[in-house]
Amino acid sequence: MMLEEALDGLALRPEGTYVDVTFGGGGHSRAILERLGEGGRLLAFDQDEDARANAIDDPRFTLIGENFRYLKSFLRLHGVRQVDGILADLGVSSHQFDVAERGFSTRFDGALDLRMDRRGEVTAADLVNNLDENELSCLLKLYGELPNAKQMSRAIVKARGEKSITTTSALREAVSRHLPRGMENKYLAMLFQALRIEVNGELEALKEMLRQASEILVPGGRLVVISYHSLEDRLVKNFMRSGNFDGVVEKDFYGNVLSPMRMVSRGAVQASEEEVARNNRARSARLRVGEMSDKNNRYE
Ligand SMILES: C[S@@+](CC[C@H](N)C(=O)[O-])C[C@H]1O[C@@H](n2cnc3c(N)ncnc32)[C@H](O)[C@@H]1O
Repeated sequence: MMLEEALDGLALRPEGTYVDVTFGGGGHSRAILERLGEGGRLLAFDQDEDARANAIDDPRFTLIGENFRYLKSFLRLHGVRQVDGILADLGVSSHQFDVAERGFSTRFDGALDLRMDRRGEVTAADLVNNLDENELSCLLKLYGELPNAKQMSRAIVKARGEKSITTTSALREAVSRHLPRGMENKYLAMLFQALRIEVNGELEALKEMLRQASEILVPGGRLVVISYHSLEDRLVKNFMRSGNFDGVVEKDFYGNVLSPMRMVSRGAVQASEEEVARNNRARSARLRVGEMSDKNNRYE
């Protein structure tokens, strides 16, 4: 997604060390390797073991099958303490969407799973069958931005009282009366998104990764993040601007901004019309670029 924009944002140095924290199908990684010289290095993360099938056979490349929330320690394990750039293309890969039994797609019937890392203990079915109505409703409202989160949660609790909800089609059936006509898929996608964010602890992982990114990027190093959800984008924007997640900019006695990073462009970059026409998911993509400040300006 947004390949050229991401590469521009990284401002690659051919001999630099880079990290693609969301390897997926490897599209971004391949393009980065094409632009790196012989002395360049690319390390990639993906917590989904299916991503291993796409690993790139190149001596400059290393794939780490872990969650990017452990960015710093796994890089250290590979002898890397500082990097020149980090790319994150958040969310779900097309592969994950296309495999019915992973439960990511509203198009197929599959297990209500939604774990990107199948070592994870909690599945979407666990949430749907065990959260109380109020917790469920808060989740659907916050992460799914569903206007009728309350009604949907009530319907889920009612349906699971009769029979546990273990498949995507059973969930669809449970909320069917609350999917506005003509918007069924949109509402279902919002419902699945809410469950997915919680199952995978996506916002916590993003925060961890951003914090660690600011500790390992060299001065002038670039952080490029493509997000698909307003909550993610807000975390990214605030962190790049202020070094914290509330967006409170602190200044020193002389009025200098005390942030480990500065935002390279003020607004978020959006996908081109051409890309949106090719891939509807690009419509919600927001790309932001941060640049590490001078070390002296940082606070830990
Ligand atoms: C949108 S896809 C990336 C696509 C990739 N840029 C490409 O060109 O093919 C996101 C990928 O990131 C992975 N992912 C999401 N959150 C992650 C996390 N916290 N740690 C590691 N991998 C993660 C997912 O498993 C998925 O494969």
